[in-house]
Amino acid sequence: MKSPRLLQFAHDDPAAIRDELFGGFSASTAAIPPKYFYDALGSRLFSAITELPEYYPTRTEAAIFARNVGQMAEVLGPVSTLVDLGAGNCEKAASLFASFKVQRYVAVDISASYLRDSLECLQRKHPAMDMLGIGLDFSQTLNLPAEVGDGPRTLFYPGSSIGNFTPAEALAFLRQVHAACQGGALLIGVDLVKPTAMLELAYDDPLGVTAAFNRNMLRHLNALVGSDFDIADWRHIAFFNTAASRIEMHLEAVGETVLHWPAGERRFAPGERIHTENSYKWRTADFAGLLEQAGFSRLQYWTDENAWFAVFVAFS
Ligand code: AVJ
Repeated sequence: MKSPRLLQFAHDDPAAIRDELFGGFSASTAAIPPKYFYDALGSRLFSAITELPEYYPTRTEAAIFARNVGQMAEVLGPVSTLVDLGAGNCEKAASLFASFKVQRYVAVDISASYLRDSLECLQRKHPAMDMLGIGLDFSQTLNLPAEVGDGPRTLFYPGSSIGNFTPAEALAFLRQVHAACQGGALLIGVDLVKPTAMLELAYDDPLGVTAAFNRNMLRHLNALVGSDFDIADWRHIAFFNTAASRIEMHLEAVGETVLHWPAGERRFAPGERIHTENSYKWRTADFAGLLEQAGFSRLQYWTDENAWFAVFVAFS
């Protein structure tokens, strides 16, 4: 049996993290990037979100794959290398191995150590497959190492993670993905515009799991940089900004509160907010246009019967 190879590329250094976060605390509209949701508890809370009846994206995307995987396989042809961006537990990609005849699997995520267990388990089920785990933060620049190999690549970016980018950032990111495809293809999941009430329930569920996910970021920040957020002072806000076509999540100060961190402080008035996430919702025609602008061609997409979510294939 082969065994998975693991490579870790540099994490952000602590000084860069502090600069980013202290800058965010001090900005006139305070803002923290959504990657800070994902400490160990945050990752578990996200996983719980995907099981909520109100959070439709994960199960809708899975149903689109289940129903259309045969057609997708025909369009893609045999996949020599599948590169999974944000692989996590590798489950979504693994469910495609057989249909896509994947020969080599490259899982990319923030931390290679998260990938070790999932890859070792997958390797046992697919003893002949080549497996590589890469720890890399690709949110700013997608710089895949030479170890990925130089055959044609199919890049896999499911879950509508592209929704965290503004349209301009998404275009810049997709251009990098296009460059990284090398004559191959992209397989990407995109969440679509739908009635506001349904969107808002998906991001403000009655059980309060999304609220816990949002507020947990503050505990993560305290642990990371020594700030003194008190969870009780902050409430979860989520709403659909129709003009910008995005769900916005914020943390809102319940009363007047003073935040301290090493070498700084800031007063928040009651009702003042910290912006923690944007989750853009696309129209299929606009997303197709974006893929074309990024250099992709021969686009095809599949949706569910309600057109809540779409999976696109595009060639580089
Ligand atoms: C992981 C970015 C796809 O935007 O739906 C879920 C994150 N935030 N509930 C999304 C999230 C609140 C999720 N993405």
